[in-house]
Amino acid sequence: ESYDMGGHDTYMHKEIHEQADAVDRALRGRIDDRFSTVHLGGLNLDARDARAVRRVKILGCGTSYHAGQIGAQMIEELARIPSDAEPASEFRYRNPVVDPDTLYIAVSQSGETYDVLAAVQELKRKGARVLGLVNVVGSAIARETDGGIYVHAGPEVCVVSTKCFTNMVVSFGLLALHLGRIRDLSVADGKRIIEGLRKLPAQISEILANEAEIEKLAGEYADAKSMMFIGRVRGYPVAREASLKLKEVSYIHAEAYPASELKHGPLALIEPAMPTVAIVPDDELLEKNRAALEEIKARSGRILAVAHQVQEKADHTIVVPKNEDELDPILMGIPLQLLAYYTAKAMGRDIDKPRNLAKSVTVE
Ligand code: AGP
Repeated sequence: ESYDMGGHDTYMHKEIHEQADAVDRALRGRIDDRFSTVHLGGLNLDARDARAVRRVKILGCGTSYHAGQIGAQMIEELARIPSDAEPASEFRYRNPVVDPDTLYIAVSQSGETYDVLAAVQELKRKGARVLGLVNVVGSAIARETDGGIYVHAGPEVCVVSTKCFTNMVVSFGLLALHLGRIRDLSVADGKRIIEGLRKLPAQISEILANEAEIEKLAGEYADAKSMMFIGRVRGYPVAREASLKLKEVSYIHAEAYPASELKHGPLALIEPAMPTVAIVPDDELLEKNRAALEEIKARSGRILAVAHQVQEKADHTIVVPKNEDELDPILMGIPLQLLAYYTAKAMGRDIDKPRNLAKSVTVE
């Protein structure tokens, strides 16, 4: 991509619209139909190494940390390796036990975020194996890690990350498939995931074609002083990222909670002035998510659902195309990027350069 604005009013809008092409680029040349797996040339991890991994720990900051949370779930689901994500900034200060059987993954758009780089350096000093999942080729984190995956999102100029987040999650999907097929993921499941991955670019275009509806919805919710974002399991990191996106560009206060935690406290906040955005995929938790919508409705809360089918209890539903359950998080946040963008636009915010933020935080 060039830095030409191509008719878009902001880089954020341009980059949101580049996502179908960006995902296509992340997949290109990597799918191996013969063995229902993917080739990840730079991984530097042979089958024996991959089988020896006992845990995966993903480290990143901000949006990249949220991508890592989805990635950890994908790896745990598809490769059955216990996995989690943690903010790199916290990890490096708590004197963590560095385990030789753990595969560490540093995730970063810029590849220059100081907290992530410092965590990588500390891990390397203690003899850990660290991979990078990075966008900027040749960046410090890409150089310091033992191998990794370039996410190929292309240049991202807007301070607020959109297309890179999506490509990070797709890249985690590729890694999860790769590790899964070395371990216990069946040929049939490998094929199923590959088919799902191949559908993504067209499904992203389908979501973006719905832009006018999302712009209208942004108008409906722009009066909110505060918003709640909820989701369960696969939907929870999507809710967290959408909440961060709204905060960053619109400066509207937003909270993200697992829908299952509502009754343990945050339900007290629900009233008409505090709308809820709910991530409601058609998966094994659909009924549980619907029950949460009922609880919110019973307290007169306004609800905007992002779902695979219209949700009766919601005031509005943005319907997104269904993919494989494991890959649904890739798509469900995309309309909420547009929601954040249009809300900020209606409020006259400096969308590409939100106050107090830098694209890459290269200091502590
Ligand atoms: C993204 O919208 C943010 N501005 C921010 O959270 C960012 O993701 C974080 O600073 C990490 O940056 P990195 O991916 O370049 O490491």
